[in-house]
Amino acid sequence: MTTALTAPLLSDRVQLMQESATIAMAKKSRELAAQGVDVINLSFGEPDFQTPDYIKEAAKRALDEGYTHYTPVPGYLDLRQAICDKLLRDNQLQYQPNQVVVSTGAKQALANVVLAVVNPGDEVLIFAPYWVSYAALVELAGGVAVPLMGRPENGYKTTAAELAAAIGPRTKAVMYSSPCNPTGAVFNRAELAAIADVLAANPSVLAIADEIYEYINFTGEHVSLAQFAEVKDQVITVNGFSKGYAMTGWRLGYLAAHPAIAAACDKLQSQFTSGTCSIAQRAGLAALQGGRATADEMADAYRRRRDLVLTLAADIPGLVTPRPDGAFYIFPDVSALLGRRAPDGSAIDTSADLALYLLRDAHVACVSGDAFGAPYCLRFSTAASDEKLTEAFGRIKASLGRLG
Ligand SMILES: Cc1ncc(COP(=O)(O)O)c(C=O)c1O
Repeated sequence: MTTALTAPLLSDRVQLMQESATIAMAKKSRELAAQGVDVINLSFGEPDFQTPDYIKEAAKRALDEGYTHYTPVPGYLDLRQAICDKLLRDNQLQYQPNQVVVSTGAKQALANVVLAVVNPGDEVLIFAPYWVSYAALVELAGGVAVPLMGRPENGYKTTAAELAAAIGPRTKAVMYSSPCNPTGAVFNRAELAAIADVLAANPSVLAIADEIYEYINFTGEHVSLAQFAEVKDQVITVNGFSKGYAMTGWRLGYLAAHPAIAAACDKLQSQFTSGTCSIAQRAGLAALQGGRATADEMADAYRRRRDLVLTLAADIPGLVTPRPDGAFYIFPDVSALLGRRAPDGSAIDTSADLALYLLRDAHVACVSGDAFGAPYCLRFSTAASDEKLTEAFGRIKASLGRLG
């Protein structure tokens, strides 16, 4: 039998850290499914597609060709060159391989850069609603996460004026995703140009631009903040293979940055994890060499599902759902449903209560908005088949109809 560890054995750092809410909800949903319940899990940020075959084949070849050894810390040189080629082709950005660090997912790229640039007490402005891990990473580095909530009437997008007003003497960086997880909002060229102007006026402020959903963009144009030449050296572009190429399990992401920042991330990574998995890197190289045709096919499916889910959600009283321009989530405001009671009499006071009620009653897993800095919202993934989505939103409608 193990004895309980008393709190002092654990660092303050880890005790203060929240478990990832999306991972926690997925765990609850798997536990219920293990009891034989037919759960529809819309909590995870994960493509339901398989990794394309040509990428899997490259991984099999990599094993046969003997790619089983330690890899260079920042990634194989040919992969970093292919990432530079991609950044030039898709984003008109010129980088050299020494400016690219390949990591164990975009998540590690984000962790590397935050730990590389944030000192204790530094503030990081995070456009909100934001992806769950941003604030936790900043706090892990001893920094202060300062959410900058975008107004719903502006599609939840923080404006350049709001950013300018929030920058203070302790601001070290600003951090955002576009397309955004959880809202699906996409910054257009004019909006990013205005943000670049603010950064140009504040040359000591860095920007961490998370572009992991780049290929799942329904507007027809993805704009990178680093394209604005006057701020390129202030911008760290983070991207990866998980979403566009449906490669979540392979754990492959990267960043491109000023050589000094890339070198700092390389140094950190050398002490933490070393170079990421050899086989995943060979697969990533094949993914890039294959272009974006398979990614575009998947994006078409996400766009169709977005339209389907918006129609289904519009038919459910109490959900106010902005139209996402990218990624694969909807993020409805559920304020109108809070303060109600479940049929068993339990109170639904928060979006977390509502998410748990939907799991219990509708057997649909979603994530409450608190984790994203918007406690009056719920996030549902749309990365599921039409049948599953239709069934899930039918069940949600019935369950919400039973609230007192
Ligand atoms: C906005 C955002 N950034 C980064 C990541 C991490 O991606 P990866 O699987 O490459 O670590 C995710 C995954 O959900 C995400 O939604």
